[in-house]
Amino acid sequence: MGIVIASTGKALPEFKLENEQLSKLVDTNSQWIIDRTGIETRHIAIKETGLDLAVKAAEEAMGDMDKDSIELILVATVTPDMLVPSMGALVKKTLGLKNAIAYDINAACSGFIYGLWNAEALMKTHKIKRALIIGVERLTRITNWEDRGTCVLFGDGSGCAVLEHSDSKKGIMSSFVKNYDDVTNCLTVDMQYLNTPFADDEPKEPYIHMNGTQVFRFAVGAIGEVMDAVLQKAGIKADDVKYYVPHQANVRIIQSAAQRIKQPIEKFQVSIRTTGNVSAASIPMALADLMKSGKVRPGDKIMLVGFGGGLSAGAILFEAI
Ligand code: UT7
Repeated sequence: MGIVIASTGKALPEFKLENEQLSKLVDTNSQWIIDRTGIETRHIAIKETGLDLAVKAAEEAMGDMDKDSIELILVATVTPDMLVPSMGALVKKTLGLKNAIAYDINAACSGFIYGLWNAEALMKTHKIKRALIIGVERLTRITNWEDRGTCVLFGDGSGCAVLEHSDSKKGIMSSFVKNYDDVTNCLTVDMQYLNTPFADDEPKEPYIHMNGTQVFRFAVGAIGEVMDAVLQKAGIKADDVKYYVPHQANVRIIQSAAQRIKQPIEKFQVSIRTTGNVSAASIPMALADLMKSGKVRPGDKIMLVGFGGGLSAGAILFEAI
């Protein structure tokens, strides 16, 4: 009858970087970071690869599921370990998921939402039984540690959801994604390619460049638009939604989303305090936190909502099983 979110998992690197330690790197202080973002600490992958984190999150989500039943792996990331093979292909090989089609998606911080949007359509069209949708990032490898406007924000980690065909459950009720042109280039990461003997390319900085105020403004507007769209498509009201799982970019953006949709902040999963912004991994990690909290009951309506570079935004509304 529908595509359900059957289980979730997450993985964080061992090393934690506290706000206090950042004030030794750049001109900042813990109180500013907490007041302006809600972040107290974040995890940084020192020993772990992105693949290690993705595999750990996937293993937790899969539990003792039959590996041969996984027929699709979509990995949302802007920081793959390698360009080729894709992270999806690496996860498939490492976990021995021999029946899976695997590839990556780049929709920046909206990547996990785009992954679910793709997966739902593919699973319905191709009668795919089970899929792994993973968000994984090592953002701290593309962070400029001399830029106080960005280096206090980001962290590393991975989250995973297993999607399943169900004959009796509704699962995903509606979904909506949208791209907006980044006309001012307010959120970019350059690629540093090797020079060839035939071209003399300018060196580029492969760091996150961000105009935080512009992204903030975009986020608040886009979140409102995509939240309204999924509610309308499903024919339900914001009050009918039990929990909201937003992208974890800034606690003030989450508060604005709650105000915009006239819902109490208690309905919103807030995980940013201990993880920072982990781009495509933020939503699946926060979803795993919500699912582990023991609060969710079968039939509860949950909305995932994200925004990010591209610019991109999207939301997914589903019923818990
Ligand atoms: O995942 C999607 C991508 N990212 C986002 O969604 C981020 C969206 N934007 C934001 O979260 C916020 O804009 C930031 C947290 C990045 C910045 O907060 P803000 O309230 O917009 O601060 P601001 O950039 O307007 O800066 C205010 C002041 C400035 O000083 P002056 O010019 O008023 O003297 C900044 O230089 O705060 C200063 N500042 C800092 N001070 C201490 C900026 N970064 C820091 C810092 N520590 N780390």
